[in-house]
Amino acid sequence: WLNSAGSSFCSVVGDAEHIPDHRINHIIHNGGLYKRPFNEAFEETPMLVAVLTYVGYGVLTLFGYLRDFMRQWKIEKCQNATEREEQKDFVPLYQDFENFYNRNLYMRIRDSWNRPICSVPGAKVDMMERVSHDYNWTFTYTGRVIKDIINMGSYNYLGFAQKTGPCQEAAAKVLSQYGAGVCSTRQEMGNLDKHEELEKLVARFLGVESAMAYGMGFATNSMNIPALVGKGCLILSDELNHASLVLGARLSGATIRIFKHNNMQSLEKLLKDAIVHGQPRTRRPWKKILILVEGIYSMEGSIVRLPEVIALKKKYKSYLYLDEAHSIGALGPSGRGVVDYFGLNPEDVDVMMGTFTKSFGAAGGYIGGKKELIDYLRTYSHSAAYATSMSPPVVEQIITSVKCIMGEDGTTIGRARVQQLAENTRYFRRRLKEMGFIIYGNEDSPVVPLMLYMPAKIGAFGREMLKRNIGVVVVGFPATPIIESRARFCLSAAHTKEMLDTVSLSSCLPSAHAC
Ligand SMILES: Cc1ncc(COP(=O)(O)O)c(C=O)c1O
Repeated sequence: WLNSAGSSFCSVVGDAEHIPDHRINHIIHNGGLYKRPFNEAFEETPMLVAVLTYVGYGVLTLFGYLRDFMRQWKIEKCQNATEREEQKDFVPLYQDFENFYNRNLYMRIRDSWNRPICSVPGAKVDMMERVSHDYNWTFTYTGRVIKDIINMGSYNYLGFAQKTGPCQEAAAKVLSQYGAGVCSTRQEMGNLDKHEELEKLVARFLGVESAMAYGMGFATNSMNIPALVGKGCLILSDELNHASLVLGARLSGATIRIFKHNNMQSLEKLLKDAIVHGQPRTRRPWKKILILVEGIYSMEGSIVRLPEVIALKKKYKSYLYLDEAHSIGALGPSGRGVVDYFGLNPEDVDVMMGTFTKSFGAAGGYIGGKKELIDYLRTYSHSAAYATSMSPPVVEQIITSVKCIMGEDGTTIGRARVQQLAENTRYFRRRLKEMGFIIYGNEDSPVVPLMLYMPAKIGAFGREMLKRNIGVVVVGFPATPIIESRARFCLSAAHTKEMLDTVSLSSCLPSAHAC
């Protein structure tokens, strides 16, 4: 399965040599377009594990039917949302069967999600203890706080989610000066000097002509894509793109075609087809072709093959929209994201999108690019025209953290954090691999999916880790393919080596799949 990604620039070296050929399905390295090693591995699910996982889901489904039968005959109580008695003859508002999975599978492990935290989401976090007396249908709080849980679940890549330090002090000062809310849109009374300062700074940070900031990362995608493309345009979207990109693409009214995850052969085939055949029926050329990709994919821990995507986009004269939600701050020698990581020119990406919710410990999103693009979006984007502008202390948190990363605060703290994150990432991934875990993704990705596979392990892993004072995010179907349930660790520059050792050792429970 080597080179299944379809690049013609492939050679396998380094770490890849130590993985038996039959277990690798996606490794590629350092082709002509790449200035640095690019090692990414997605081991195939072992056959026995796959069979046992399907058997596990089969057993759960059988018991689900049995319990549904008992609920129907009122032998077992069901607390699911049901139709109101007086609307029984309406078309059902809640599709009963679609909730089968929620009722019978998700409910068993529901305690692994939505756990309320009650502190800053730093390297350690405090969590409110809760218990369920009715098998996870409802929860009650015990009033106890579980203190100092090692936080492996927040996207606090550079450790800027802090309640002390320069960012917090600056944000507190701005809060006392400007208040928390703006109560208007940018086009009306909500255009603060702070917003303009932020946008100029972000443009400089990204190395682009201009930038615009928005109050919400999700809306940055879902509201700006429709401003850029519409009917008669073609969107080529990676199959694992985030929901906000998917929603934006759908809202735009453009035709959407999906290429296999990070697979350049698949993308090129779609581009070729689009150029050769044009629009269906009329055969007219597409008005625009827009490629949508992410920098780091947050479920797979993969990094976009940006040099190849840029080469293709240039070859077929299409546009590129890059979502750097997880990669900005977290990748590249100076933390400027995936473009910096590969040593590319930011001008080669037409639309640079990212969020402030992760590496900057704040909220909101941005779009960067040519001045004409940003001027156009200021007028035509719904999130620019109709949404209230960003809260001033949040803006200040971003300004201070970006300046820190750029070294404009007069310190090397930012640069050190970027390096620390890279070191933590390599160290933690190496530890887990040495212990025999199957982990996915790129060796430089701070998102580390550890494969659990079996449904029973999803809840068990989350609970056992919490008992050891470690907070992890576990993910299963439908967020992943049915046999690829996983725990997803998000590394931070704020994690110490001791914390990472504790987490890797604690992961070695019977519930994790170590070889
Ligand atoms: C790739 C990607 N884009 C956009 C978003 C939405 O950003 P936000 O959470 O800042 O609204 C996310 C959120 O996790 C994301 O992962």
